[in-house]
Amino acid sequence: MARVKALVAGNWKMNGAKASKKEVTALAKKLAGKAKPACDVLICPPATLIATLKESAKGSKIAIGGQDCHAKESGAHTGDVSAEMLKDAGAAFVIVGHSERRADHGETDAAVRAKAEAAHRAGLTAIVCVGETEAERDSGATLKVIRGQLKGSLPDGATAKTTVIAYEPVWAIGTGRTPTPDDVAKVHAAIRKALEARFGAEGTKMRILYGGSVKPSNAAELMTVPNVNGALVGGASLKAEDFWGIISAYA
Ligand code: PGA
Repeated sequence: MARVKALVAGNWKMNGAKASKKEVTALAKKLAGKAKPACDVLICPPATLIATLKESAKGSKIAIGGQDCHAKESGAHTGDVSAEMLKDAGAAFVIVGHSERRADHGETDAAVRAKAEAAHRAGLTAIVCVGETEAERDSGATLKVIRGQLKGSLPDGATAKTTVIAYEPVWAIGTGRTPTPDDVAKVHAAIRKALEARFGAEGTKMRILYGGSVKPSNAAELMTVPNVNGALVGGASLKAEDFWGIISAYA
C-alpha cells in the first residue's frame, strides 16, 4: 500500500467570527512546537473568514479552505461564491458535496462533480464528500450508495494532488456515533478499489478521509484503520485544544 501523508481537515460549518482568529493562532503555536505531527492541517471556515484566517495562519503549516463553491467562475448568481474567489481570498482547498449541502440545497452528484471541476479549474484541491444515510445503511445499501456517489461526483481528470475523498456516514455527523473500525475499513477499502479502477496509480495515492464524530478520544483508533488517510472534523475542529488533540494523534 502506498504511504500517503494524512490530512486533518476542520470543517467549521456556519460557525466562527473574527474573534476565532485566536483559535488559529493558538493552533499555529502548537504546530510550531516540538511535537511535529506527520499530517497536513487544514481549516475550512465560513467564506467570510477565509482571508482573515489566512492572515492568522501566515508562517504556519495551516492551510485554509472553503466549504462549497459555485460551478461557474462568475456571473449572476446572487449569494454564491466561485472557486476562483475562494482562491483569491487565500483558499487552497474546497469541500464539495458535503451531505448537509446535498440535503439542504438538493445538490446532486452531477452538481457536486461540476463544483469539483470548478475547484480544479481554479487550482484548488477538491474534498469530495460521500456517505450513506442511516436508512441506506440499515438496508445494506452502503457500498452501492458510496460507489454511485463516487462515480457521479468525481471528475474524470481527478488526481491525488487535486482531489481528496471524504467518507462521512450521514448518521455519524454531529451525533457522537461512529461506525466500528471494521465498518470504516470495509467502506474505505471499497472506495480505494473504485478509485484505483478509475484513476489507476493516482487512485492508489488519493487521500481518503473519514469524517463523522471524530474527536480526540477516537482519532488514534480511526487513523490506524487501513486506507484512512486523515479526518474531516466538524465540531471538534472549532477549538484549537480539541483539534490539536486529533492532529497530534498523527504522530
Ligand atoms: P462532526 O462533523 O465532526 O461534527 O461530526 C463532521 C462533518 O460534517 O464534516
